[in-house]
Amino acid sequence: MKTEIVILEEDKIDRAIMKRASNIIKSGELVAFPTETVYGLGADGLNTEAVSKIFKAKGRPSDNPLILHIADSSQLEDLVEEVSDTARKCIEKFWPGALTLIFKRTKKVPDIISAGLDTVAIRMPDNKIALELIKESNRPIAAPSANTSGKPSPTKAEHVKLDMDGKIPMIIDGGSTGIGLESTVLDLTESIPLILRPGGVTVEELRELLGNVEMDSSITEMDSDLIPKSPGQKYKHYAPKADMSIYDGEIDEIVHRIREETKIHFENGKKVGIMCTDQTKGFYEQGISISMGNREDKSSIGHNLFNTIRQLDELDVDIILAESISRENMGIAIMNRMTKAADGKIIRVKEE
Ligand code: TXA
Ligand code: MG
Repeated sequence: MKTEIVILEEDKIDRAIMKRASNIIKSGELVAFPTETVYGLGADGLNTEAVSKIFKAKGRPSDNPLILHIADSSQLEDLVEEVSDTARKCIEKFWPGALTLIFKRTKKVPDIISAGLDTVAIRMPDNKIALELIKESNRPIAAPSANTSGKPSPTKAEHVKLDMDGKIPMIIDGGSTGIGLESTVLDLTESIPLILRPGGVTVEELRELLGNVEMDSSITEMDSDLIPKSPGQKYKHYAPKADMSIYDGEIDEIVHRIREETKIHFENGKKVGIMCTDQTKGFYEQGISISMGNREDKSSIGHNLFNTIRQLDELDVDIILAESISRENMGIAIMNRMTKAADGKIIRVKEE
């Protein structure tokens, strides 16, 4: 299959292109499109055969459910059993935005979307191209991140092309995605709202709105063997080709330790990539250091994280040494993705 890449600007959407894209969705084929979090791989969310193509193109395990994307809250009516007061509050405050809500589903939601669960994940993306595509297609659009399963989520159309070229008819290039990390997944079917995946909307923001909000313990204790409630969270993810480790502790000690490790690997003829920050980049003379962003502005790190991992992959480094990030606000989502990329390898540094 030939993959066509079309360029669209959020503020100047070409109607003819949008029509073509929605016709592809309506005909049961796939279109990759930008959202404010990461690029999505979209299909008609009510068409089982179309949705099955998503699993095939990504190589995604069939027990991992998908998010339905809507453009108007009225679309919820057909899809969910009940919209609770808590759900209404979340919708009012965070939609359109990086918050996916889990509801009890109706029979209208195809089984393939929910992977056998009695719930469905829904969000309204905050990107005009995504919203227009949903409206023009006139149905909910099922969309996981548009990467091959196990790879970092795509934040640019080039990333989608690397993973999906020849497998789908169209990629809409709407530039770099703003947030760069996927949405927060919040389960509202529990008595206390439960975060299944940390993401673009922070725990602090949710607690401010709702009071008590819990976090799945597999997120807070990532180095344990706890089984996450969200099926997708149990898979190794975002993995670079290189062997990656995260160094956690006081920043001075982290830098000291990464410098030492880099020297040793360098002497052994290894190509080392360092994931650092604006504040520390100047300290690394050896290795290829790439700043993920500014420690004082975590959203800059979220924006660049997946691109940094993909860049190091392209440079064919053998080893990646990454600085940890403090876990407040967006930090927990960043560390969640980094820990998965490193397959759980966190080294706690402490000076003797
Ligand atoms: O930002 C995002 O959420 C992006 C953009 C494209 O919207 N989408 C995305 O989709 O990250 P995906 O499929 O890569 O991740 C969806 C996550 C998975 O961990 C999945 O297991 C979980 O949401 N999920 C989906 N439906 C669920 C359900 N009914 N119950 C629990 N977890 C669910
Ligand atoms: Mg994904």
